[in-house]
Amino acid sequence: MPLIPGMDRIAYGGDYNPEQWPEEVWTADVALMREAGVNLVSLGIFAWAMLEPAPGEYEFGWLDRNLALLHDAGIAVDLATPTAAPPPWFRHRHPDSAPVTREGVRLGGGGRQSFCPSSPAYAAASAGITEQLARRYADHPALVLWHSHNEYGGVNAFCYCETSAAAFRNWLRDRYGDLGKLNEAWGSTFWSHRFGDWDEIEPPIITATTANPAHELDFFRFSSDAHLANFRRERDILHRLSPGVPVTTNFMLANCKNIDYWKWGAEVDVVSNDHYLQAERADNHIELAMCADLTRSVAHGRPWLLMEHSTNAVNWQPRNLAKGPGEMRRNSMQHLARGADGILFFQWRASRFGAEKFHSAMLPHGGTGTRTWRDVVALGASLGDLAELRDSRVTAEVALLWDWESWWGLELPWRPSQELSFRERQEAFYEPLWRAHRTVDFAHPEAALGAYPLVVAPSSYLLTPGAADNLRSYVDAGGTLLVSYFSGIVDAHDAVHPGGYPGALRDLLGLGVEEFEPLAAGRTVRLDDGRTADAWAERLELRGATALASYADGPAAGLPAITRHEYGKGQAFYVSTRLSGAGTAALLATVSAAAGLPAPVDLPASLEIVRRHSAGQEYLIAINHGQQDVVVPGDGVDLLTGDPVADGLPVPAGSVRVMRRGSR
Ligand code: GLA
Repeated sequence: MPLIPGMDRIAYGGDYNPEQWPEEVWTADVALMREAGVNLVSLGIFAWAMLEPAPGEYEFGWLDRNLALLHDAGIAVDLATPTAAPPPWFRHRHPDSAPVTREGVRLGGGGRQSFCPSSPAYAAASAGITEQLARRYADHPALVLWHSHNEYGGVNAFCYCETSAAAFRNWLRDRYGDLGKLNEAWGSTFWSHRFGDWDEIEPPIITATTANPAHELDFFRFSSDAHLANFRRERDILHRLSPGVPVTTNFMLANCKNIDYWKWGAEVDVVSNDHYLQAERADNHIELAMCADLTRSVAHGRPWLLMEHSTNAVNWQPRNLAKGPGEMRRNSMQHLARGADGILFFQWRASRFGAEKFHSAMLPHGGTGTRTWRDVVALGASLGDLAELRDSRVTAEVALLWDWESWWGLELPWRPSQELSFRERQEAFYEPLWRAHRTVDFAHPEAALGAYPLVVAPSSYLLTPGAADNLRSYVDAGGTLLVSYFSGIVDAHDAVHPGGYPGALRDLLGLGVEEFEPLAAGRTVRLDDGRTADAWAERLELRGATALASYADGPAAGLPAITRHEYGKGQAFYVSTRLSGAGTAALLATVSAAAGLPAPVDLPASLEIVRRHSAGQEYLIAINHGQQDVVVPGDGVDLLTGDPVADGLPVPAGSVRVMRRGSR
């Protein structure tokens, strides 16, 4: 099954905003799109005011003409519902639909997503324009995909207005049914929080001190669900009026804490993601790889669409560094290597006006005489050579547990240390695996894990009893698990699992944590095997596990720091401190070997290698992020040149190669 029915190539293109340009520019747009190999554009994402200039009055003529031009040029369309940017008339008519911040400030218009996610007026207006678009364009021959909204929850993730408060209470009623159950789940005997009536419950607005963490967690869940309800409404209209055309919405995976994308992944027909490099960050291509792997995981291994990235600099970081030579190509091929069947950008043509005019585009202000344009044309040609990779799959050998609910919980206020960071721990384990050329999936703690020789739980703070059972079964059946500190501490309501830390995992790990020992800023500790660590230590008590390394100094001196426990047919490792990068890499090497993973390939760490498989065929994508030329062993066909590869695949510094393995 192709990712998008009707697309027989790797999708290539970007957001297209023709409404910002006079129609004479459109003809040039389409000609240049053809020159660049563009075959898919996302159209009309922010065009609500141009499509419905006044409530119930529609102007579709310009869109008809634009769609016809695109279709005549053979360019397929991912048609957007423009509901991420309600027009000024909407706000004017429905002032109470504006979102309210935690501090009680009602936000103004003039930006985007300036609506309360629970607003009935917004629901009606967004359903109205969605329905009009679906009726008019359901059978349009250019239409291959619907693009609902844009980055749900991007800037209006939470709203604390009266409407949201009422919706939150309804959501809680559905979840708990009975107020007594809510009081129990929220531990509301603490600080006299016991509710006697549903109407006493507010969203967790700003308070004199920190709020009830269970209340906070449910507000996260409610808010993610409020946006999901908006997505479902549009999706269901589109499915009803435009059957057979898949519906997507662009996620912001890994960089958006506020949306529970495991839940959302099951609701879209096509998983698509937006990713932007953190320009000033060293090795930001590793962060990119992590986000791409997370996207594939949310798509349950199926191909996905990179809906947005940038050809060059963005405009919203403190210093918007331009990409270096070949960087955009490497970035694009990383996404492709990790399962994307389409590479799109924000945006096609750089805007002349508005807030994003200094954001790069496929066609920059400088036009076709620019490096960016030449790179865009070259990438389009290369993707044209890679059509046979479509629908091939990536197989991972390691799973990292990733759970948005645990992210929410871990970073609530009043934790033992402000050094506890969800993303920091994920990246701490992802990076050495990347450098060791291991392919990683991400998995929800309650998901099936049996396919992975190795599973890593990086500070899985919130673990339900079901998740703990899942991990026990995984190890019992022969799996190898590595658990990092502050895992398995609380349940879904942020209540500590009874019986001592780490309550959910004590028997599996064969130990108890008597006390946490968070370390002072800048303080390091040494282990007796020479490793160093910081941020965190623990006083461990072994109950079946054996110590692999102990603390040589610091508050837990003499006590075990890293342990291993045999459980059923498998083994569970535990690391109770924040090891240095080298220490984490060495630990991962140990547990990878213990899990029976093959020895890492002997290639430079800066060379990224990923394999995609389809029936009887293997594709090797090699991306050289380093300064040295590399030769990757193997033979086959270089798909970007068509040349046979007999004696290893040369991958010059900074370049990308894609090889079909074997001599077919
Ligand atoms: C997001 C949005 C786009 C655009 C880009 C700029 O991803 O979806 O509309 O604003 O950021 O980087």
